[in-house]
Amino acid sequence: MKIEELTEIVNQKLDEYMGIFYPQKIFKSMKYTVLLPGKRLRPIMCLESARLFGAEIQDALPAACAIEMLHAQTLIHDDLPCMDNDDYRRGKLTNHKVFGEAIAVLAGDALLTFAPQIILKHSQNLGAEKLVKLMDEYFQAAGAFGVIAGQVMDIEAEKLYTPYQMYDADETEKYTDEDKELLHFIHLHKTSDLFKLALRSGAIIGNADDEKLNALTEFGEKMGIAFQIADDILDETSTFEQMGKTLGKDKAAGKLTYVTLYGLDKAKEDLNALIGECFKILDENGLKSEIFETILNKIKNC
Ligand code: IPE
Ligand code: IPE
Ligand code: MG
Ligand code: MG
Ligand code: MG
Repeated sequence: MKIEELTEIVNQKLDEYMGIFYPQKIFKSMKYTVLLPGKRLRPIMCLESARLFGAEIQDALPAACAIEMLHAQTLIHDDLPCMDNDDYRRGKLTNHKVFGEAIAVLAGDALLTFAPQIILKHSQNLGAEKLVKLMDEYFQAAGAFGVIAGQVMDIEAEKLYTPYQMYDADETEKYTDEDKELLHFIHLHKTSDLFKLALRSGAIIGNADDEKLNALTEFGEKMGIAFQIADDILDETSTFEQMGKTLGKDKAAGKLTYVTLYGLDKAKEDLNALIGECFKILDENGLKSEIFETILNKIKNC
């Protein structure tokens, strides 16, 4: 199947899952951000990972959609005034701009718990053992050991750097190894953890062995970092029309990003190298996937 077909399948299923119950306001707020036109990369990667191990798409759809709901949760909270303070997401007003801050906070909280309920409710046929494994993966990635750890340090790092300390071609060595390690930690958790979750969940549904699971974990880690480097580059080089969000804010906010730390040229160089490593992992582990290849090339050509 092509990316466009998978996107359509995911969109339809998300629409089906995001019902409106009482109190309507919270379900409308949850549904609003989940159904905005995102790229659906994480669910697509989950479905593709499951397919690689011979699973039926129907068996992986609940987990794939749940991971997109978790992703939407991270976006709603990431955009809040107390976090990145953004007014636009996926080309439309952010959740708190439409529903107010209190409901946006609650919609994020609600999605965080609604998502695993979707897996438990719609994946009973996978059996208890797989369900427990999927829950373990979900909670690890969603909580303080996962994406939250990355977001905490992303926000904490803002206090350490002021815009005038940012990358200056004449002074490349002013950053310490600790700065580099901190950036790596942030990217690994705020971004790679959800890609890893998507890939590993699909592989678990397809009964992949430990060797393949480890390969996909490494792939997800590197691909997530590459994806975040691309996002950091695009913050400098892209437009609202292309990205559907306000750009050029990272530097002004004193964010520690790949571009503010290393500059645009090295960011592009390292992005290319990482994409190369991702292709190598797929190749060496017999993970032949046009979908993964297409996604990697899109990230590379950001
Ligand atoms: C945005 O993710 C958050 C980052 C990790 C940079 P995406 O770029 O995948 O966002 P959508 O889902 O397409 O809106
Ligand atoms: C967001 O990183 C990562 C998460 C939402 C977990 P960014 O803050 O760079 O994402 P954008 O640029 O707002 O999409
Ligand atoms: Mg952020
Ligand atoms: Mg943000
Ligand atoms: Mg960004």
